[in-house]
Amino acid sequence: MTNRVDAQAAALNEVITAANPAVADMLSTRGRRIYFPKLGILAQSGEARGKTINATIGTALAEDGAPLCLPSIASQMNLPKGAAFPYAPSPGVPDLRQQWGKMLLDKSPELAGKTFSQPLVTCALTHGLSMAAYLFCDDGDVLLTPDLYWENYDLIFGISYGTTIATYPTFTPAGGFNLDGLRKAMAAHAGNKLVISLNFPNNPTGYTLLEKEVPELKKLLVAEAQAGRRLVVLLDDAYFGLVFENGVYRQSLFADLCDAHENLLAVKLDGPTKEDYVWGFRVGFITFGVKGGTPALYQALEAKCAGAIRANISNASMPAQSMLLAAWKNPAYAVEKQQAYDTLKTRYQEIRRVLAAHPEYREAFMALPYNSGYFMCVKPCRADPEKVRQKLLADHSTGVISLCGILRIAFSATPLAKIEPLFASLYQACQAV
Ligand SMILES: Cc1ncc(COP(=O)(O)O)c(C=O)c1O
Repeated sequence: MTNRVDAQAAALNEVITAANPAVADMLSTRGRRIYFPKLGILAQSGEARGKTINATIGTALAEDGAPLCLPSIASQMNLPKGAAFPYAPSPGVPDLRQQWGKMLLDKSPELAGKTFSQPLVTCALTHGLSMAAYLFCDDGDVLLTPDLYWENYDLIFGISYGTTIATYPTFTPAGGFNLDGLRKAMAAHAGNKLVISLNFPNNPTGYTLLEKEVPELKKLLVAEAQAGRRLVVLLDDAYFGLVFENGVYRQSLFADLCDAHENLLAVKLDGPTKEDYVWGFRVGFITFGVKGGTPALYQALEAKCAGAIRANISNASMPAQSMLLAAWKNPAYAVEKQQAYDTLKTRYQEIRRVLAAHPEYREAFMALPYNSGYFMCVKPCRADPEKVRQKLLADHSTGVISLCGILRIAFSATPLAKIEPLFASLYQACQAV
């Protein structure tokens, strides 16, 4: 990698340093060098917008100026051609970004009055996480995560950006989130900067912090930031909104952390993938928040992130962004979303019922703490989880995931009537192996 910093990147770095030098320190080498080009093709294209002849853009237009598209493709879409075929802007469709920003406020009322960037559109959360790694993770930087985390973090942070993934036990023996483990892990990793990831509702466990755990977590992170450490806190909110118990935190931790301390940059990764059941649409968002964040700081971070997006995927799917924008403005959306939530909640409650009705299952497996999301996990008491998984496949025509010494059960994908048989099979498989 050359060390040359383009003048446009240098200008953004200066803005960030002037607004908050700690955030400038958090940037990776790539993060310092990236910028969203204000000159060149994009600028010239912008200047030509609305002219009688605009021979600047790299898309094809029909004789009437509409997108030149193939009827065999266009006939499958309900969208106006202009909302489906052209490129989206690298940071995302402006109305969609604005709408998601508004929805963030509705979902986490604590955000009211706090400053944060405009959300930028990514190619769903995977890409958002990847962009966070691009901006903040250098080879050898440490990412701290509970030991039960989504395995793709290994590819995104570990393999692609050379980040060292350091873990701490997710739960305390009493079954709460292991805040003390986080405290010890922060202490064990020296250095000026630490990247921390928090994912609630969690994949794989289906755990979300209890309301009473949130102030403690915040206190812990703020104390670390106060001591001078630069913290990039990645909030992977992939399963946001799917909380099924009282006393469980329903807002995003972003609302608590986006103004927690000048040395703590909160980076929210979220999107409709799981929230709105559009896994294949590939639309997500990345949003930044830091105490005292100014519009200039956020615009500079957005410009860097937009540059990283442009360098990486250029822009996310236009038809998907258009469909989502229309859906979020549709009065039926909230009702439909509630119905989907109820479907998952009913399955969650069925698991609770089945496990309570079968105390004998506890001889064979223990449920890990769960209260939200798409999944719950069990730990076989004596049996090897991989052997249980194999047995379930071979003798019960049932597939679950075995990872880290536990079994993950996606109730999101299990019809209500199949939950009881699934746990009966699990019990038998644990006993048999
Ligand atoms: C915790 C977590 N984060 C991120 C993702 C990625 O989501 P997306 O499909 O939006 O890239 C997943 C998907 O399984 C996930 O479980």
